[in-house]
Amino acid sequence: MRKKIIAGNWKMNMTPTETKELISKLKDKCNIDEVDVLFVVPAIDVTTAAECLKGTKIKLGTQNFYYEEKGAYTGETSAKMILDAGATYVIIGHSERRGIFKEDDEMINKKLIAAHKFGLKPILCCGESLELREKGTYKLFIEGQIRSAFDGISKDQAIDTVIAYEPIWAIGTGKTATSEEAEEVCKFIRETIKNLYDVETSDKVRIQYGGSVNAGNAKELFGKEDIDGGLVGGASLKEEFINIVNYK
Ligand code: PGA
Repeated sequence: MRKKIIAGNWKMNMTPTETKELISKLKDKCNIDEVDVLFVVPAIDVTTAAECLKGTKIKLGTQNFYYEEKGAYTGETSAKMILDAGATYVIIGHSERRGIFKEDDEMINKKLIAAHKFGLKPILCCGESLELREKGTYKLFIEGQIRSAFDGISKDQAIDTVIAYEPIWAIGTGKTATSEEAEEVCKFIRETIKNLYDVETSDKVRIQYGGSVNAGNAKELFGKEDIDGGLVGGASLKEEFINIVNYK
């Protein structure tokens, strides 16, 4: 039985001061055993968030890192820095990083390898544009994203990778994929992992859905067989997030 994992992706929101305020509002009711709850905060907020979350079960992550160990990479954050500041998870390949910051499949593969090498737990994002959805070639595209990202990743590392299916047309648009549409692709991703590794790996790997998840649709989405939780953007910045993690 896979434990659900529900992560709030704060994106580029919340100063360290605001981080304290938001965590103090969310902390007690998000401190639950039934699901893994994760706050994925901007790098500058990690130290503050780690302090605020001490003594809770809530896990902490950040939204990006660079794959080299250290050195002349102005503006970048290393895995070691993130871990030392108190976060253990990292998002890799979010569509905003792929689209706005031009991260390609090769970069994402290097980041996935480096996250495992340095001991960060990755949440690997994939998902198609509206154009590909309408063309009908979205599964082929997602399979390509998964195959490329997992190149050189061992079975144990694959099991330890969370995958987030986030159709780009559903992110921040208020237009959620139906639970059937989300389940279809999450099941397909699991099959792709089975083909790349084996049934044990595909049974164990956790696959989230992301894209306009809210308190009203969480139960329906997370009730699907192959959807092991969610990556939540907008609604993770509000008290609504409490109802999402307590969706049952
Ligand atoms: P959203 O964002 O919930 O605001 O659609 C999801 C995401 O981008 O992770």
